[in-house]
Amino acid sequence: MAGIMSAVPLLFDRKVVLVTGAGGGLGRAYALLFAERGASVVVNDLGGDIKGGGKSSSAADRVVEEIRAKGGNAVASYDSVEEGEKIVQTALDAYGKIDIIVNNAGILRDRSFARISDLDWDLIQRVHLRGSFKVTRAAWNHMKNQKYGRIIMTASTSGIYGNFGQANYSAAKLGLLGLANTLAIEGRKYNIQCNTIAPTAGSRLTQTILPQDILDAFKPEFVAPLVVWLCHESCQENGSLFEVGAGWIGKLRWERTLGAIVRQKNQQMTPEAVRDNWEQICDFDNAIKPKSYQDTFYEVLNKLGTNQEISTNPTSGPVQTSTSNVNPFFLMQVEAIGKKMPSIVYTYTHLQPILYALGVGMTTKDPDHLKFLFERNEEFSCLPTFGVIPAQSGMFDLASVPGLIIDFTKVLHGEQYLELYKPLPTSGTLKSECTIADILDKGSGAVILVDIHTYNGGDLVCYNQFSLFAVGAGGFGGKRMSDKVKVIVHPPNRPPDAVMSDVTSINQAALYRLNGDWNPLHIDPSFAAVGGFRQPILHGLCSMGFAARHVLKQYANNDVTKFKAIKVRFAKPVIPGQTLETEMWKEGNRIHLQTKVKENNEVVLTGAYVDLEDTVYKPRDNGTDMREELQSDVVFTEISRRIKDVGREMVKKVNAIFQWDITKEGRTAAQWTIDLKNGSGELYQGAARHQADTTFTLSDEDFMQIVSGKLNPQKAFFSGKLNIKGNIMHSQKLEVILKDYAKL
Ligand code: NAI
Repeated sequence: MAGIMSAVPLLFDRKVVLVTGAGGGLGRAYALLFAERGASVVVNDLGGDIKGGGKSSSAADRVVEEIRAKGGNAVASYDSVEEGEKIVQTALDAYGKIDIIVNNAGILRDRSFARISDLDWDLIQRVHLRGSFKVTRAAWNHMKNQKYGRIIMTASTSGIYGNFGQANYSAAKLGLLGLANTLAIEGRKYNIQCNTIAPTAGSRLTQTILPQDILDAFKPEFVAPLVVWLCHESCQENGSLFEVGAGWIGKLRWERTLGAIVRQKNQQMTPEAVRDNWEQICDFDNAIKPKSYQDTFYEVLNKLGTNQEISTNPTSGPVQTSTSNVNPFFLMQVEAIGKKMPSIVYTYTHLQPILYALGVGMTTKDPDHLKFLFERNEEFSCLPTFGVIPAQSGMFDLASVPGLIIDFTKVLHGEQYLELYKPLPTSGTLKSECTIADILDKGSGAVILVDIHTYNGGDLVCYNQFSLFAVGAGGFGGKRMSDKVKVIVHPPNRPPDAVMSDVTSINQAALYRLNGDWNPLHIDPSFAAVGGFRQPILHGLCSMGFAARHVLKQYANNDVTKFKAIKVRFAKPVIPGQTLETEMWKEGNRIHLQTKVKENNEVVLTGAYVDLEDTVYKPRDNGTDMREELQSDVVFTEISRRIKDVGREMVKKVNAIFQWDITKEGRTAAQWTIDLKNGSGELYQGAARHQADTTFTLSDEDFMQIVSGKLNPQKAFFSGKLNIKGNIMHSQKLEVILKDYAKL
């Protein structure tokens, strides 16, 4: 492959290139190489001095002559880049179009910062930043109309790393990178690509700074081939930054630490908390490389939801309640809590459930298909997750809620919970009542919980909780968690019990949106680009539909009456055409799941589960029912009795929720939750209904060893027998609960 590729020379027949500042240095090298490869070249140069003074036509003329002497095509342009329209007009007059722009013209006015005059500042910004803007804007619509364009911006290592005496120049040069980043996004749809280079080369700009032997090694000819390649129609690079010099080329990208959440729930964020987490905030171990703001956003969203209890913050003060400390924005948001939105009336025939089934990938390949795709089938039913459809417009009606001051273009669907009370009718009229259940402040954004109850006549059919993340609407001093939240639950720590996958179709989003989610993000490339996505993305609820189908088939034999509830968090976007792979773990009636995009192994649905109805606990493969064998059950039963007696007292002392995952032969065999935070305390089987403060994972045997005092919990922790997730400090409070059972 490489051999075939390298045999094909990169030619620019019938392409028109404009190189600014091409009368010498780097620009001249670009112009010569483009011409040699068959392009028609507009050689632009003002012909002034290095500091931006004077002008002359000779610089551009000399290069044009050089090109013509070699049999190439070139015309001269003597205008300043500040008059971009005139330069682009020269190209149109001479060749009828413009395909490629290399923004290269530049000057220097180096001074230490205190000595930079207004003129030093302004001239540098005008030539580099404004000049590149003017030239590029003049060409933009031509490129858009012809659906082709290649643009180069010239930045500098002085901008990337800083350089003494070049404050004005550094600012302008990195400004060009910002400009390029956005043009790369806006141009993508029209096949206009924009990249940035930070070159090093011997030229009149550097000849007084660099010694001669270095200048010889850093010839402009050792930069030009990169520019030419980036501008070729076969090059797909877009929005990238390269350092280049002496024949070496390197690509740069952003790196960001995992960072730290410095705020605990119900606590304000303090400078001390920032100081105390400084090491973690700045720790580049396991750093990530965000490609877009979208990536950043999803990361933060994930962290806020899962890690927030991990970072201990002993110095934070208690929550401030005096109104003088409360952001007025908060008061308005709080007013919105509990507000009802207009009811939604949804009337449908068999057509909608069939369309939905197709939208979430149900196909005639599946032997059970008839029941979901053919209205005259005896068992014709709605897929359970169709339950989101009659309610979904509640998600779009937030604008009607008084008090909600939010930029609705920045609202993302973060999580979804759906619970069914009876199988959905296959046609009819359903009425949904929507309430703003709560609004949470997650710092970088606000989480709006919309609760929607859907009725068939007087019967409650299903309940949805849409969890929406409003980017940038946080920091208003609101609470961080709410007991209204249907929390996500992470899967057990073992390989999945079952895996199912399905390839989504290229048209999956186009099909799914016919169920009534008309957001252009899922169909219009330019709208998706504005949102920071490379192409339109699949609806999160569509991926959820796929995952629910997988569980229904694997564990309920496609019997919709078995489906009780589903919870998912949308962690990353899915592109139509990708393969969705659902990993499943059965824990009694609860099927934990996570869904990945097979092509890139990214987890797109996290913390998800499906609760099934009436599926009694079945012995595992080896035929023994481990559930019955657990010794720890006795202890928990005893604790339960105690909580009934003195729970209220314990709630006061402990004020935390603990979850135990008890393992047997490496698998989670039981889950228990002790809630010593709410009401008079409670112990129940299964994962915590409200987010657990601390989760302990350990084997049944080790649990017994610890409670009988034979195994020191600290030793168990350090030897890996006991795994603790969440707030480790809380585990000390456990003594209150467990100490008394040492006698057991
Ligand atoms: P150069 O001085 O040889 O080339 C710059 C050209 O731009 C000159 O021919 C000049 O007449 C022309 N020019 C200046 N103002 C103009 C205006 N208003 N309109 C049209 N033309 C104008 O310098 P060199 O080194 O070739 O620089 C090219 C670009 O590369 C510049 O943007 C420079 O900032 C950048 N650069 C160069 C580095 C190097 O190591 N040579 C390092 C980092 C960036």
